[in-house]
Amino acid sequence: MGLVMGHMVVTACAGFIGSHLTDRLLADGHAVVGIDSFEDCYPRAMKEANLAGARANPAFTLHEANILDLAAEAAPGGPGPGEGAEGSALAALLRGSACVYHLAAQPGVRASWGSSFEVYARHNVLATQQLLEACGAAQVPKVIYASSSSVYGDQDELPLHENMVPRPRSPYGVTKLAGEHLCGLYHANRGLDTVALRFFTVYGPRQRPDMAFYKFISAMLEGREIVIYGDGAQTRDFTYVDDIVEGLVLAQSAPPGALMNLGGGNRVSLAEAIATLGEVMGVQPRLAVRPVEAGDVRDTWADVECARALIAYSPTWSLSAGLLAEVARFA
Ligand code: NAD
Ligand code: UGA
Repeated sequence: MGLVMGHMVVTACAGFIGSHLTDRLLADGHAVVGIDSFEDCYPRAMKEANLAGARANPAFTLHEANILDLAAEAAPGGPGPGEGAEGSALAALLRGSACVYHLAAQPGVRASWGSSFEVYARHNVLATQQLLEACGAAQVPKVIYASSSSVYGDQDELPLHENMVPRPRSPYGVTKLAGEHLCGLYHANRGLDTVALRFFTVYGPRQRPDMAFYKFISAMLEGREIVIYGDGAQTRDFTYVDDIVEGLVLAQSAPPGALMNLGGGNRVSLAEAIATLGEVMGVQPRLAVRPVEAGDVRDTWADVECARALIAYSPTWSLSAGLLAEVARFA
């Protein structure tokens, strides 16, 4: 089924992945409505820079607002078409859209313990439920949700495939899984056409500053040691951001209720990744070893057969090419 005409909505449009997606949708000729509350988990200036291209495009409209506040507000311009979700400012923004990409979340695996869990629960669970209510009320034809490899936790077998029982190891993973389940519920019970995509450790230009490659590149540029958590033998299926964006675009034609991995096909150990980064930068990395952080899984490796079969997903970026691109545009 092709997409009906209408604008695209991107939540998290100012973030790392959401800003790349926004740029791609604009380049493809879509009008894009972006929603982002510019949470302060990293500097606003970075998010402003992420959005600079989109803001210069008249086909882009930014709503700087929290999804939860938009859900609680009445639609502007008098009484909306109904009570509750139907008459909310959020539903008004979504009405008439061809597809809602829901990427907004409090990200980061290791910071999700303790009192910060409340923030994760609010942004990742409550906001997702409110967004799905509003999508239903606004009769949005497609909702695409950014899930995460963190829902798997440590499994006995690799690669990770969608019919394994999820066992998150971090509070963050629990919230991303809850968001996935909410998508499944609104699909099964309310007939909403939802798709959930499990991204595997995404990297590239605009990467969040709490993520490994961003921190490693900064450290090497400044002549500092790279801090690694554990022995460096943990593995990740690193996925270049353009491959993820391609998967997000292809997912517009995914079957209703689909759930699939989006990995990069570049599973390497952290030590190997650091060696590749050192070669790309022409710097000999110096390492400072710290204990494994709570919540980190040992290994990830995406089985992407489901995404290949359902949406013809086929990642193309090698780790060295992707790291070269991240380093070249490092700000
Ligand atoms: P990011 O922090 O760069 O972007 C998230 C954006 O969402 C931020 O700009 C923030 O201000 C916004 N936001 C958060 N809560 C909001 C709310 N309630 N209302 C409006 N805006 C809100 O993060 P990212 O790395 O680009 O991640 C994007 C999505 O992809 C997240 O859902 C994340 O869980 C998922 N994901 C990321 C990775 C990765 O490797 N980066 C991997 C798997 C899944
Ligand atoms: C990433 C994202 O940050 C999450 O938002 C996302 O949900 C997750 O991917 C996912 O795939 O679902 P993570 O794999 O921890 O999480 O990504 P990085 O922060 O880039 O870390 C990669 C590896 O480097 C981990 O083993 C981590 O322990 C290690 N690391 C990270 C270090 O050794 N040192 C650091 O300073 C940072």
